[in-house]
Amino acid sequence: MLKLPEIPEAVRLKAPIHQREYLVGGELRTWDGEVSEVYSTLSDTQPYVPTLLGSIPTMGEPEALDALDAALQAFGKGKGEWPTMKVRDRIGCMENFVRRMETQRETVVNLLMWEIGKSRADSEKEFDRTIEYIYDTIAEYKDLDRASAKFTKHDGVYAHIRRGPLGVVLCLGPYNYPLNETFALLIPAIIMGNTTVFKPAKHGVLLITPLLEAFRDSFPKGVVNILFGRGRAVATPIMQTGKVDVLALIGNSKSANALQDQHPKSNRLRLVLGLEAKNPGIILPDADLDLTVQECLTGTLAFNGQRCTALKILYVHEAVREAFLERFVKEVDQLPFGNPWDSGVKLTPLPEADKPDYIQELIDDALAKGARILNPRGGERCENFIWPAVLYPVTKDMRVYQEEQFGPVIPVVSFTDMDQPLDDMAESNYGQQVSLFGRDAYTLAPLIDALVNLVCRVNLNSACQRGPDVYPFTGRKDSAQSTLSVHDALRSFSIRTFVAFKDNALNNETVEALLEAKRSNFVSTEYLL
Ligand code: G3H
Repeated sequence: MLKLPEIPEAVRLKAPIHQREYLVGGELRTWDGEVSEVYSTLSDTQPYVPTLLGSIPTMGEPEALDALDAALQAFGKGKGEWPTMKVRDRIGCMENFVRRMETQRETVVNLLMWEIGKSRADSEKEFDRTIEYIYDTIAEYKDLDRASAKFTKHDGVYAHIRRGPLGVVLCLGPYNYPLNETFALLIPAIIMGNTTVFKPAKHGVLLITPLLEAFRDSFPKGVVNILFGRGRAVATPIMQTGKVDVLALIGNSKSANALQDQHPKSNRLRLVLGLEAKNPGIILPDADLDLTVQECLTGTLAFNGQRCTALKILYVHEAVREAFLERFVKEVDQLPFGNPWDSGVKLTPLPEADKPDYIQELIDDALAKGARILNPRGGERCENFIWPAVLYPVTKDMRVYQEEQFGPVIPVVSFTDMDQPLDDMAESNYGQQVSLFGRDAYTLAPLIDALVNLVCRVNLNSACQRGPDVYPFTGRKDSAQSTLSVHDALRSFSIRTFVAFKDNALNNETVEALLEAKRSNFVSTEYLL
């Protein structure tokens, strides 16, 4: 049985946060209805009792429709202040917001640790990466705007082409990156002139509350509306109105499909989705084993494997299977387990109370079908954690082969024919990334050429990851729709729209007058520095 680490007095929360305010139409409204308690699985009580962190409103259809209405009014059928605002002024609002957000670093990082059990180093990284993402988005938008500050002419027709907002965006993020991934949707959606309704993830919800006032004060009313409650209760009625223009969701394809199906006008609805994956690590006979072991440890177990980009299955060539696994399982069993604030910690308690039991089910199913646990500590339990089990040999009939585990368990398959992992990937419902470990150019070349057509990122001798955030983050099949990166997200949340006119004296005079009058924020050649 794993020992629960003690929680030092210094990191205990002073008092529970009973959040009663929510943001709709530019005001923080007070909720006096039903609430849901928020618990952390971090605890050192004997016997084990989860820690109460606070409570949040359990909202429903009326509040959801109010928030949608506020977003619709702020868009104002295209005439709203925000969608017609000068790019320079929209950027000013975003700069105000990010400066206010920076002041909340310590509070947000602390809540990240308590709510989702992410290590302090990774929680700080999540916060800082999000701030950087916002500044990079501002810089990228300036570039985009500069490139649009001109007229082009073809076949006697002038065009002034820019990117315009799509309308109302419903934004839902995941619990494993409740700040970064949610903001990687919300920030580009806002800055491009859309108006938004946003519901925080099921875990990592209190950490949004220190930012409500900054949202309220930085943007015109109704541009950002923030609700609390269950996705089913608030997102479903919003989708059913048919008035949402973009569903932006990072999470599970089942939730994405269910929500999409509620929208009665499928051609109106654009989708920006980052969904699940089962990224394989493929280890070739000439792989550098020291490096491969380290990358596979990070790939499979960073944040306990709770990453959409995690390596969720390892294909090890028979020629190096023994050598690789011998080193790998030793390293897995030596990983430091503790609370998020413990120095050097790698494995931490899981935020979902039922996750250890689910992982246990996957292990039991694999054992019953012929797999073994290779590491002595594999499957060791306490209430809020289960030690990662390295399972071998894993076969297609096992649940751990079929399901995205999103947690600490590592299935291993061995192979001799390179077509096996390729065929399995082609057959899979997922297509996000792969890690390929090896160095012979003649072996790697045809593999890379095939793999880039099965996934959207081939990581050579490196763990899979989303970052750096300037690179495209996307996937095939059930893994994604649209592309996210600092550059691509601005495009995913906007559409090219333009003013065109035939080259004649009347039009030229009219457009010159428009430019001179500086009354249109769209027809403008102003160069943003
Ligand atoms: O959950 C999926 C995240 O996008 C992974 O991001 O690769 O930076 O951890 P990461």
